[in-house]
Amino acid sequence: MKKILSITIAVMSACTLSCKGGETLDITPRPREITLGSGSFNVKGAGFNYDASLEERTLNAVFKLADDISAACGKTCSVAAATGVDASTDIGRLKGIFLLKDESLAPENYVIETTKKGIKITAPDHNGFFYAIQTLRQILPVGNYAGKSAAGKWAVPCGTISDGPRFAYRGMHMDPCRHFWSVEETKKYIDVMALYKLNRLHWHLTEDQGWRIEIKKYPELTEIGAFRNGTMIGRDFSSNDGIRYGGFYTQEQIKEVVAYAWEKGITVIPEIDLPGHMVAALTTYPQLGCTGGPYEVWTLWGVSEDVLCVGKESTFAFLEGVLDEMCELFPSEYIHIGGDECPKVRWEKCPLCQARIKALGLKSDEKGTKEQKLQNYVTSRIQKYLEGKGRKIIGWDEILEGELAPGATVMSWRGADGGIEAANRGFDVIMTPNSHMYFDYYQSENGVEDGEPLGIGGFVSTEKVYSFDPMDKIAPEMQKHILGVQANLWTEYIATPEHLEYMLLPRMLALSEVQWCTPENRDFARFSAGLKSHQEKILELLGYNFRK
Ligand code: ACM
Ligand code: ZN
Repeated sequence: MKKILSITIAVMSACTLSCKGGETLDITPRPREITLGSGSFNVKGAGFNYDASLEERTLNAVFKLADDISAACGKTCSVAAATGVDASTDIGRLKGIFLLKDESLAPENYVIETTKKGIKITAPDHNGFFYAIQTLRQILPVGNYAGKSAAGKWAVPCGTISDGPRFAYRGMHMDPCRHFWSVEETKKYIDVMALYKLNRLHWHLTEDQGWRIEIKKYPELTEIGAFRNGTMIGRDFSSNDGIRYGGFYTQEQIKEVVAYAWEKGITVIPEIDLPGHMVAALTTYPQLGCTGGPYEVWTLWGVSEDVLCVGKESTFAFLEGVLDEMCELFPSEYIHIGGDECPKVRWEKCPLCQARIKALGLKSDEKGTKEQKLQNYVTSRIQKYLEGKGRKIIGWDEILEGELAPGATVMSWRGADGGIEAANRGFDVIMTPNSHMYFDYYQSENGVEDGEPLGIGGFVSTEKVYSFDPMDKIAPEMQKHILGVQANLWTEYIATPEHLEYMLLPRMLALSEVQWCTPENRDFARFSAGLKSHQEKILELLGYNFRK
């Protein structure tokens, strides 16, 4: 009886601490399971021990953590290879901090077990360890991020954190075309994504207003297409500041960004937007258009009626030349081929495009016009070309209009309906609905009148982002097609890094919980409290401009 009573008390106290611990550890995105016991492990001066099988990029993150903690708490943490232990070693035998590979865990998952004597971190891969480190950083005093002397309790509470993502694709989009972002600014964007466990950067590299990627086969793309002769002023479409504006990334810089992101567990997915949004390329090579131009890199925002002429074989040769170099630069499984907002007015009048329609036997019917089907032909031809190189395509939800070949992934941006339809038709989907995931929209209902900087319109608050349910109206058997969620940040009205960060944050933190947490683990009140009490301090310390 006495034994039963003491077991009951022990269970009750573990539960109380678990619930209490869950409430007091402000970790974003919220881990799947936190169970706290009593006591803590002091990391000040603790030794880090790593599995010899860990990747070099994982070790880099471990060394950086040890260095930052050492600098912040004033006592050196050593780092050394672990000997005679592995993931199956009982935690009771571990003194210090151990990072041990456990391939039985699901991808990107991790477990942190803490006793008064040590911490055992297990994960199956780089991302799992990297995320365990991010979680530890959020538990420790904020000063650990700065790597300089900081006060605070350098303790990790005893217990277990068992964690992993809900979605495999956790993306954030970046638009360096409407306004250009330097390599350093891009890295700072990647840094904050990594902190909150995002793993895909969708890099939109070509547009009407500027071509941003060096292509060695077509050097004129960046000599001519990367610069425009002005930018419209405010929201006045009849205006132009007359100031030459532009920039591009050299291939060396692209490699640098890809490698930088990879260290932080982020895959960069490049986008070449085709067959619309191509005025910068048309300006460079007018023969790629239906009318032959002349064209001018756009100085206004909006959608141009001038698109690639897909009646010409030379257009496909050009696209293949660009894609060849993109595939060399980006090891990503996916290449984004755009496909959005492609007006068909030029194709309707172009003898070459019409000849192609005739040769292919395309006819208008209830599924779509013959010009829409011509876009399907372009999508499928580019898809086949990329599949030949072992890559898959992502396209904006317009690629779903008419017919779409199996194997394409649909990025649903005009609301979630395109994504729902795509999943029902058996396509993989990434949800980026403008109703919830457009970070170029205002963060306040009345926009400028509420003191917000000038923007494109709309209203997407942090709470609205947080409320998004990617599985809404998706039948259970189709849910496997929802690969994940991404937010898009178009930069027509965003010209400075301060403004860019202001639009990104804190909405990206809400996004991180939509991507990472199970529905049961999402709670906006808990998230907001943690944002105020903890996350804002981290963002401030790291020098981000965010909306308070
Ligand atoms: C888009 O916002 N045009 C994809
Ligand atoms: Zn044409």
